[in-house]
This record gives sequence, C-alpha cells and structure tokens, in this order.
Amino acid sequence: MTTNSVLPDIPLTPFIRDILDRIDASAGSVKEAISLPPECYTSTEWYEFERRAIFDREWLALGHHSFIPNIGDYFSITINEEPLLVVRGKDGEIRVLSAVCRHRGHLLGNGSGNADSFTCPFHGWTYGLDGALLSAPEMNGTLPMEELRRTQCLPSLRSEIWNGFIFVNFDGAAAPLGPRLKVLSEEVKNHHMADLVAPPTVDWKGNPWNWKFMQENALEPYHTHYLHSGPHDFAPSRLASFFEWDEADDGAIFHPTGFLHVDGGFNVSARCLMPAIPTLTLEERQRVMFAAVMPNLFFGAQPDCVFFYLILPESPGSITLRVGLLTTIDNLSLPTAPLLLKGTVDGISVYNDQDVVANTLTHQGLKSRFAPRTRYAPKEKTLAQINTWLVKRYKAYADSLEPLKLAAE
Ligand code: FES
Ligand SMILES: [Fe+2]
Repeated sequence: MTTNSVLPDIPLTPFIRDILDRIDASAGSVKEAISLPPECYTSTEWYEFERRAIFDREWLALGHHSFIPNIGDYFSITINEEPLLVVRGKDGEIRVLSAVCRHRGHLLGNGSGNADSFTCPFHGWTYGLDGALLSAPEMNGTLPMEELRRTQCLPSLRSEIWNGFIFVNFDGAAAPLGPRLKVLSEEVKNHHMADLVAPPTVDWKGNPWNWKFMQENALEPYHTHYLHSGPHDFAPSRLASFFEWDEADDGAIFHPTGFLHVDGGFNVSARCLMPAIPTLTLEERQRVMFAAVMPNLFFGAQPDCVFFYLILPESPGSITLRVGLLTTIDNLSLPTAPLLLKGTVDGISVYNDQDVVANTLTHQGLKSRFAPRTRYAPKEKTLAQINTWLVKRYKAYADSLEPLKLAAE
C-alpha cells in the first residue's frame, strides 16, 4: 500500500503573492515571455513554496531500473529533502520506501548494495524489502510486536517507470507520467532506454546555484555558441530545432541539436567513443536529443549513450547532481569499456566545467538589486516552455490554497 504525504501548506505571504501577481508574464510564447522574477531563483521563501507546488506534487526522477537489477538490490537518494530507499523486492517489483527508521528516525541503507532486509544500526529494528517491520528487539515490554508490525512499516510511495527511469510522486495524485511524454517517447524510442544499462553514478555535490538553472542551461542552445565555443562546434546552435508547446503532452521539454557528422560525441574528438546504439537511424546518429522530464531529470540521448543528471535541490542556492550514463550491454562488455566510459564522462565534464562557472555567476547575479528580468532570444524557446510548465503549477497550488484562506478570513 502506498502512502500519500505532503508538507504542510504554507501561507501565501505578501512576498509570494507579489511574485504570483507578476509571474504570468514569464509564460507563453518565446516572442513575448520574460524570465521569471529573480527571487524565484534565490529566495528561501519561494523555494519552500516551490517544494510544495512542484516537488510534492510532480513525478521526481530517482534513477534507472538498471541500478537495481536483482532481488534485494537497493540505492538511497534524498530528494525534496526526503531520504528514500529504492528497492527491488522479493517479487521483482521496484518500491520506493522512506529511509527513516520508524523507531527514532535513524536513516536506513545508506548508499547502495544488496540486502535481504534492512536493520537499523541504532537499536536493531529490521524491515523487509517491502518495508514491513520484521523485528523490533526488546520492545515487547511496552508495545506488542503485532501492533508494531501493523503500524510501523516504512512508508511506501507511489512510483512509475518510464523508459527504465524510476519516478516517485509524494502526493499520490499526479496524473500518470507516461501519457504526458508521448512525443518525447516517440523521438527517443530507438534508443530503447529501458534496455540500456547504467554503470555506477557519481554525485557532484555542492553546486551553488538554483535547480532551475540546471534545466535552463541544459536545454537552451543559445549559449552553446558562446560559452562552449570550440568544443561544441560539431553541434552548432544553428542546427538546433524546437517543438511547439503541447499542453496535453507537457511532461517533458526537449529539443534536438544536429551534428556536422554522423556519430558525434561530446568530447575532444567530437566523435562518440563507443559504437552507436544499433537501432538508431542514420538521422538519429547525427543529433543529440536534449530532454528534461520536469522537474529533475535531464538527459542527452546521443548516438552511443544517454547521459543524464538527476537534479537534487538542497536549498534555493545548492544542488547535488547525480550523474550517469546509459549504454548497451554490448558496449559495456568491450574490453576497453572502463576507458571508453571514463573518456565519455571526462568529455562531458569539459562542457560541465564551463556551465558550472556560468551557473554560479548567474546565481550570484540574480541576487543583485540590479538583477534583470529579461526577454529571450529565439534560441531560448525552451526557457519560455520551462516557465510555462512552472507557472501553471505555481498557480494551481496557490489556487488550491485560496479556499482555505477565504475560509480563515
Ligand atoms: S532509530 Fe532505528 S532502531 Fe532505533
Ligand atoms: Fe551548457
């Protein structure tokens, strides 16, 4: 049984109302939209509003099912400031459990591995792979085990898998994700991402910028011609193309950028380092599809692999990025696979290092009293789409609070 759990509502303070009153101008066509009010990136108050409006109510990406192929495999992750365990159960199903021990709150299963059960190191309470409480030593003097078993299971959250990526939904009420990813699913179907495999991910911690910058930077091909001039030239921004916004299919925001040659790759050679995924068409081997499954999954589907970031916000100005890539089992079986994977990640790091500087300095700039609220260039079309996605959800959450407010008045 899954648990529905959201953070307590917060009042719509004058500060939040003022932002909401000005935010409509950020949505809609790139011809008219302006950027979000700068406080949306820098304010703790807005971040707390956003945790409720976005992170408590949308589908959040946690990883890929290839992280946990076998019964008992698990990994831990903290998202929306909530520690979670993602576990492959005895029935082969993937479950997302709270990682907080039901006794006094110690965290369970830090990291990743394989287990028959989870025993809390603090006082030895033990849980099954499905979250059921199996034992609680020495507790029978105060509470019968039967009652503990009935009331103290680890909460299990609603989850969905799309193309192998595991998503969780805290409020249990989000519309299914898959049906809102129709066009993207079609565009990347030949990558067969559910059949690809991820080598171990790495966490890049302590990134001092707002989570939205990560999606913005990754999705707009305006900056690539300037910030990444040189290494990005094989994928010039003039070969970027866009999709029109579709309200009924709004789970993702994405756009492809073409390459000047087949089998391009984001590294110093400008060529992918591993053999291309064999099911791709020639056209698909000459482009990368950049895609954000909002709010926190970004991936780039390129000829030989799919690299991805899971964006894990910790505050308005700090995120951890869990970084990985997916490729074919055949590629992972090559004798040179470790070197090729390292080369692929090192190649992407070159662009990331430049983006780190840009994101850090932009976050600082948006804290200024002179922070801009600006019009976009045509190649920033995806930014207007991100805003459209966000504004709809900000407003929906605020509207859901209005009756409460009126009732209190
Ligand atoms: S906190 Fe886990 S057993 Fe006490
Ligand atoms: Fe970039």
